[in-house]
Amino acid sequence: MKKIQMVDLKGQYEKIKAEVDKGIQEVIDNTAFINGPAVNRFRENLEKYLNVKHVIPCANGTDALQVAMMALGLKPGDEVITANFTFIATAEVIALLGFTPVLVDVDPHTFNIDIKAIERAITPKTKAIVPVHLFGQSADMEAVMELAQKHNLFVIEDNCQAIGADYIFKNGSRKKTGTIGHVGCTSFFPSKNLGCYGDGGAIFTNDDELANQLRVVVNHGMVVRYYHDYVGVNSRLDSIQAVVLDAKLKHLDEYAAARRYVADYYDKAFANCDKLKTPFRAVNSTHVFHQYTLVTSNIDRKALQDYLASKDIPAMIYYPVPLHMQKAYVDPRYKEGDFPVTEKLCETVLSLPMHTELDDEQLKHITENVLAFINK
Ligand SMILES: Cc1ncc(COP(=O)(O)O)c(C=O)c1O
Repeated sequence: MKKIQMVDLKGQYEKIKAEVDKGIQEVIDNTAFINGPAVNRFRENLEKYLNVKHVIPCANGTDALQVAMMALGLKPGDEVITANFTFIATAEVIALLGFTPVLVDVDPHTFNIDIKAIERAITPKTKAIVPVHLFGQSADMEAVMELAQKHNLFVIEDNCQAIGADYIFKNGSRKKTGTIGHVGCTSFFPSKNLGCYGDGGAIFTNDDELANQLRVVVNHGMVVRYYHDYVGVNSRLDSIQAVVLDAKLKHLDEYAAARRYVADYYDKAFANCDKLKTPFRAVNSTHVFHQYTLVTSNIDRKALQDYLASKDIPAMIYYPVPLHMQKAYVDPRYKEGDFPVTEKLCETVLSLPMHTELDDEQLKHITENVLAFINK
């Protein structure tokens, strides 16, 4: 049996090696390392794939979020609402820019931002909502957009974990996650569903004016060469990463299907296990399974993780600590117990290996061992 990994980037690379190697060599040969034709090609292909007017490539997903907030013209002291159960980057950029992160709890089924909790958190200082499409499934975007419209707020989608997922509107129409709010952000970190071989990110919008401002902010606030009208940042996707992403973009739907195959296998294996809750699949979103995350109950999660490790099966906890209990984010507004769903999830979730290269032999080994621990 092949070694089981949380993510198998080598196996995936072997299948696209010829195209990736040729593309990388071309970049080296033509030396257009920054802003070369490869970046433009990928940008256009991603715009087509997402059916969005503008993609602005940048250096990583954290920058994408930061640049989006800078370009929207938010001011220090403005309140930005986001989900408590997420990777730190979402709240980090809000804090870094001097805005006030307002944390809200999540839905116990989807793990995505709780709409009622958003509504309760809105104040006259609120300027934006950042829904996170966690683990590969869309937040309830129709409800988020309705609230945003009602209160005149910007919506910045953190789509770092869900590229390729479809949000399904009540009328049956679909849009790619990240293209529904005013602006969407993604990460091309290697382990992401569309990952490069280094760091990368992108920002999406259908708003022409905002797109121009995003392009200015990622490029040192420069409107005319060497004339800086704004304080910006330097955030670029390099050509070598663009070549890798362009090769992988052609396979993104196939990759999602491979991930869903793994999720279906796990779902079936654990269907009758009352100590494991398999991922909920919302009717208003397709799921691209960035992670396959179980909620455990009445078992010692650490002991399960250790048992799996002894069988060469990695398993990870995304995420072990709610944002309001992170040392850097301790805030007198919040105390332990304020976010019961997030706090419970942090104590009980466990993510199993999830990637495009898992085979039945590995899946059998993983599921049999999870059940062996639980039934012993
Ligand atoms: C939800 C979420 N937001 C933001 C980020 C930040 O992306 P990056 O690591 O590319 O900066 C990530 C990924 O790491 C993420 O999972």
